[in-house]
Amino acid sequence: MNKTLFAVALAVASTASYAQMKPEDAIQTRQAGYKFMAWNMGKIKAQVEAPETFNKDQVVAAAKAIAGIATSGMGALYLPGTDKEVNGVPTKAKPELFADLSSGAVKVKKFAGDLVKESAELVKVAEGGDAAAVKAQFGKLNGTCKSCHDDFKMK
Ligand code: HEC
Repeated sequence: MNKTLFAVALAVASTASYAQMKPEDAIQTRQAGYKFMAWNMGKIKAQVEAPETFNKDQVVAAAKAIAGIATSGMGALYLPGTDKEVNGVPTKAKPELFADLSSGAVKVKKFAGDLVKESAELVKVAEGGDAAAVKAQFGKLNGTCKSCHDDFKMK
């Protein structure tokens, strides 16, 4: 098998195992993704609020981690049947999210797109090393988290 064919075969194999993901694993995986983003947001927040602790490399790394999760296609973890607790794993996703997904994902796509855009921008701004500019962009990114939570996440 040539290299390209092998890569295609691998991609197909991983897509197949992915499709078989258990619903409770899908819920835990998306929650882990959000938690990991929140951990990195916390690191950036602490540093922009105390600029004397600002460490450009750490902030760039944290922003890249968030941007990586943002572009990972988390929407695929909202499998049918994961709109409620599955096998003891609860979810805080609102029914409105699943309704939006089944009617074209208009709002989800907008929120997810904003997350991708503002996190990518945060990486760029962080690379510039200006703590005040990072603080402003951090605020914008945080706003994208909050907008989606207001509509789609239970308190
Ligand atoms: C596209 C919508 C959307 C965006 C954007 C979004 N979230 Fe969420 N978030 C959710 C939903 C829905 C849940 C509930 C998931 C569940 O319980 O199944 C959630 C859950 C969480 C949780 C709780 C995870 C847990 O342990 O149960 C945290 C923390 C969180 N989000 C942080 C963030 C942060 C930080 C950002 C921005 C960097 C963000 N979210 C962006 C929709 C979003």
